[in-house]
Amino acid sequence: MDKSLKIICGDCLEVLRTIESESVDLVVTDPPYNLSKNYGNNRDTWAHDDYLEFSRRWLTEVKRVLKPTGTIYLFMGVRYISYVYEILERELGMFFNSWITWCYTQGIGKTKGFSPRHDDILMFTKNEDYKFNLDAVRVPQKYYRSVNNMRGANPGNVWEFSHIHYCQTNRQNHPTQKPEALFERMILASSDKNDLVLDPFCGSGTSLRVCQQTSRQGIGIEINEEYVAMIVERLDRPFSGFDSVDERMERIPNDLNNEALRDEYITNHIEWFLKNHPASINKFTEAIEDKRYGKFIQLRLDL
Ligand SMILES: C[S@@+](CC[C@H](N)C(=O)[O-])C[C@H]1O[C@@H](n2cnc3c(N)ncnc32)[C@H](O)[C@@H]1O
Repeated sequence: MDKSLKIICGDCLEVLRTIESESVDLVVTDPPYNLSKNYGNNRDTWAHDDYLEFSRRWLTEVKRVLKPTGTIYLFMGVRYISYVYEILERELGMFFNSWITWCYTQGIGKTKGFSPRHDDILMFTKNEDYKFNLDAVRVPQKYYRSVNNMRGANPGNVWEFSHIHYCQTNRQNHPTQKPEALFERMILASSDKNDLVLDPFCGSGTSLRVCQQTSRQGIGIEINEEYVAMIVERLDRPFSGFDSVDERMERIPNDLNNEALRDEYITNHIEWFLKNHPASINKFTEAIEDKRYGKFIQLRLDL
């Protein structure tokens, strides 16, 4: 396996203690939400106060290992998110940056009340000064306007990605596998190449797979040894693109009528937005054709 990636099988509370203080650039993690999920050798069922104490203990360790410019992204379900927010801000003195809503398009249907369609991610930084690479995560503009930045717009704090469905080829035998594109955005925004990224609840290894393909170093901790074996196998597979994409990445701005600009834009689009998403290149090409931009290019090439 790639030497820059490390998977440790164990309880993150114990393993985190072995990691040097201020050595990690970014933490991206998706802990159990205390919803009684069955994770094989562990079940996500805690008394309310015990769950908060567990969260407090691992988050304290995370803060210790983060570098002063470091960031944590933490997935959390609605029931506990306000408590965890309190722990991060009031008890640990970290800095709130963003509350990101991951909106998934399909899920269970409720017959009384509204069907849930989102999970949330808290982004906190260790200090007021922190790393953030906006250019690495911009999304294509909807319209061309000369005042717009053609490198793209800020993706905002509502992220729409579908779940990884059971029929998808990258689907792992894990009950709460997350889409790779979610981790891609967090990792590209808040770390640089060769930085060290930590995931104390690694699950099926989504975070490490993204680290591998974006040239980050990674440490993943997972308590279930069967999942650890799954991660090793996942990291050894050939890469053919991340398993999910923000559909806005496949569009080309409307009204991009200036030929020279359009040419420059089309040349850059894949490098800017679709580097890790080869399967989307066809859709981008179709978008060019739909807007009849292709015809313009064809005409020009014919001259
Ligand atoms: C929500 S899942 C993570 C899913 C992951 N993001 C993915 O995309 O596959 C949480 C994981 O934390 C693991 N876990 C639970 N308690 C743990 C602990 N104390 N230390 C390390 N891992 C733990 C579970 O076995 C489970 O795989």
